[in-house]
Amino acid sequence: MQRIVILTGAGLSAESGLGTFRDKGGLWTKYDLEDVATPQGFAANPVLVHEFYNARRENCLQASPNPAHAALARLQAAMPGQVTLVTQNVDDLLERAGAGDVIHMHGQLMRALCAACGHRWDAPRVMQPHAPCPACARAATRPDIVWFGEFPYQMDRIDQALARADLFVAIGTSGNVYPAAGFVQEAALAGARTLELNLDASANAGLFDETRLGPASRIVPGWVEDILSATARP
Ligand code: APR
Repeated sequence: MQRIVILTGAGLSAESGLGTFRDKGGLWTKYDLEDVATPQGFAANPVLVHEFYNARRENCLQASPNPAHAALARLQAAMPGQVTLVTQNVDDLLERAGAGDVIHMHGQLMRALCAACGHRWDAPRVMQPHAPCPACARAATRPDIVWFGEFPYQMDRIDQALARADLFVAIGTSGNVYPAAGFVQEAALAGARTLELNLDASANAGLFDETRLGPASRIVPGWVEDILSATARP
C-alpha cells in the first residue's frame, strides 16, 4: 500500500486566479505582511485585516478549481486512505474540486474564529470587525487564519503522515515558510521518495529526489496519471 503525502502552496491555485505571495505582483509585494498577517497587525488595525481577508474571500468565491485541484481529488478518490492532502492555502478550491479531509495547516478563508472563546463557524461573505461571536457574544471575531508567529494547525497529524510516507510531493510552494518547508527533509528521513512539482525551482529544490517544472494545471494531472497507471499495472 503506497502512502503519499502531498503539500500544496499558492502555486496550486495561481491558475484559478488567486494570487501567490512571493511571485512578481504577489500579495506580499502589495501588502506588508506585518500589517495583515500577524496578531499584532490585527490588534493594531482589525478593520484593515478584515478588509484584506474579505477581499481574498471574495476572490476565492469568484474563482474555480483548475485541472490540478481536480487531479488531486481524483487521486485521493482512486487511492482511498493512501493520500494525505496538506495545504498551506486558505482557499477551498480542493474541496470544491471534490477532495475531502484536506488539512488546512494555515487555516481557511471560509471559517471564522472567536479570539475570546475559540468557537469556530462558517465565515460570512463579509466579516465585520467587532461582530459578536455566535457562542459567547463577545466582539472578538477574526478570520480563522494562522498568522505569522502562530502555530499551524494539525501538526501532529501531519508529522505522523510524513513518518509513514512512501512518497512526499510538494506542489506550487516556494519553500520559504516553515514548518511546511521542512516537510521534505522530514519525509526523506523517514525513507520517503520526494518529488517537487512547481513553476520554478523552489528555495529547497535541491532537497528533492526529482523536480518537474511547469504550470500546475498541466504537470499535476500528468503526474497523477503516471501514478494511477503505475498502480493499475498488475
Ligand atoms: N503552477 C505551479 N507553481 C506555480 C504557479 C503555477 N501556475 N505559479 C506560481 N507557482 C509557484 C512559484 O514558482 C512559487 O514557488 O508557486 C510558488 C508560490 O510561492 P509563494 O508565493 O511563496 O506561496 P507559498 O509557498 O504557498 O507561501 C507559503 O507563506 O505567506 C505565507 O501563509 C502564507 O501559505 C503561505 C506561505
